[in-house]
Amino acid sequence: MLMDAINLSIQTVIRQLFNIEQAVHLSRPDSDFGDFATNVAMQLAKPLGKNPREIAEQLAESLRQTGDYTDVSVAGPGFINLKLSSKKLADNLQSTWSDKYGENNDGAGKTVVVEYPSPNMAKPYSVGHLRPGNQGWAVKRLMEATGWKVITDNHLGDYGAPFGIWVVGFLKFSNDEKLATDGVYELGRVYIETKKALKDEEATGGSELANEVQQWLLKLESGDQQAVSYSQRFNEISLAHIHEVMNRLKISTDFELGEAFFAPQGKQIVQDLLGRGIAIQNDDGSVIVPLDEFGIKVPLLVQKSNGAALYATTDLATMMYRQDNWHPDRIILAVGAEQQFYFTQLFALAKKLGIQTEMVHLWFGVIDQLNDDGTREKMSSRKGVVLMEELLNQAEQKAREVVKDRDVSGDDIKKIALGAIKFSDFIADRRTNILFSWDSIFALSGFSGPYVQYAAVRVNKILHDNEIAQTDISQYDWTPEKLVILKLLEYPDVVRLAARDLEPHKIATYLYELARDLNRYYETTPIAVGDVTDIQKQARLGLLQKVSLIFSHGLDLLGIEVPSSM
Ligand code: ARG
Repeated sequence: MLMDAINLSIQTVIRQLFNIEQAVHLSRPDSDFGDFATNVAMQLAKPLGKNPREIAEQLAESLRQTGDYTDVSVAGPGFINLKLSSKKLADNLQSTWSDKYGENNDGAGKTVVVEYPSPNMAKPYSVGHLRPGNQGWAVKRLMEATGWKVITDNHLGDYGAPFGIWVVGFLKFSNDEKLATDGVYELGRVYIETKKALKDEEATGGSELANEVQQWLLKLESGDQQAVSYSQRFNEISLAHIHEVMNRLKISTDFELGEAFFAPQGKQIVQDLLGRGIAIQNDDGSVIVPLDEFGIKVPLLVQKSNGAALYATTDLATMMYRQDNWHPDRIILAVGAEQQFYFTQLFALAKKLGIQTEMVHLWFGVIDQLNDDGTREKMSSRKGVVLMEELLNQAEQKAREVVKDRDVSGDDIKKIALGAIKFSDFIADRRTNILFSWDSIFALSGFSGPYVQYAAVRVNKILHDNEIAQTDISQYDWTPEKLVILKLLEYPDVVRLAARDLEPHKIATYLYELARDLNRYYETTPIAVGDVTDIQKQARLGLLQKVSLIFSHGLDLLGIEVPSSM
């Protein structure tokens, strides 16, 4: 890669001049100054005990003598600016190009488990599980692109009280007919209504409903036929819905091992931990694991006083299962920021049990919305939940408005809608909250999915409308393309960093900048119409082919497709 080669040449010169090893960081300065810049002279000032400007001048002189650069200059307190010839850059792109351009083997031989979107079965799929799906999927793709073996798992929230609440609520507030027509939405309604009834009951000191809920749970555990048949029926409806939404979001997983699958094993492991003295039983029967040695004051509760399994009980079994069956080097869980403390505890527990695997909580901020009065709040909190299906329907409606009466297929509308929604998840570091606004996620002139998709569609159209021929372009002068070529040369590093830091937004930023650089390029340079020679035309089309592939590749890393027209 070019950046590596430049790095190496600077390091070599440093070694020759000063007999010292120094890591070099390259940046891209304003193009008037150079193509690349480094502040390494400033870093060397201390160890060498010299003036940085002086060091920079010495390095610059040696770098000039390599003949690799068209210009080497020193600026400010000691920045070194480097310029390369367009031809050299073009040659470099050509020689490093392959159909796997951008990918690498950093993770070769290693296995990673990525867990997403892990929705809960009791309610319809809400926007609360949009980010886990988007971020989880993008990270899965980044791991694949960097050579890891990837196993994906949808850790369904399918255990515990919801079942009892469903049955009690179904018998009280619903019927077969309603369930048949409204499916999961009826289950969701029943769930919310019953929860409310339970709360009211508790407030008045009653316990009749709560007991019924417990009884159904016990019946289910003991294999009671009626309970099992209710459970199957409700679960089927909910799972079909989850799959439908995931299909629309174009995400999937290899496995779907939910909490219910792990609960029985979890309880056994708790017994085992008690036996080994790792866990402690309280007087009321509940079980905890102290985590003081990790500086965590709050112990992890792994069993309820009545012996029932908890979230943590199922996660304990989940960790064991993954170790035994998949032997991963790393586990990544895409779950919102609210669960940060819980995962700190869980990962400490893993260490306590001797699990060496690197555990990563891939957390992210919430999605905020602007209220009519200008205040900002978490999107799912206003009127109950914002339903994923509704959000997708609205997005398709907006996408239709954006392309207006242009001839765009239904399939492409869906791609644009999804592109807008998903890209908005990546416009900033995942840890920041995002402010959801229909206008900005569809902004054709802003930092949005449709903006990048449009740039890709435009390139593809040029390629489609023009014939690519075998022409000798060795004499072509790449000056007009220089910035675009530099941008394409950056891509492998961007992928490497995005994967290393688990920060897919770096891909989104890159794609936006590529689209912007490309639009500037078109303003000054005709591709195939007007005053262009055959050599110019073929050289430019050849470069656009590479641009097109990078758009598709980068968007695909984010789970976004390029429409055929828009
Ligand atoms: N279902 C959970 C939720 O929506 C997320 C599950 C996260 N994964 C885990 N292994 N605990 O909050």
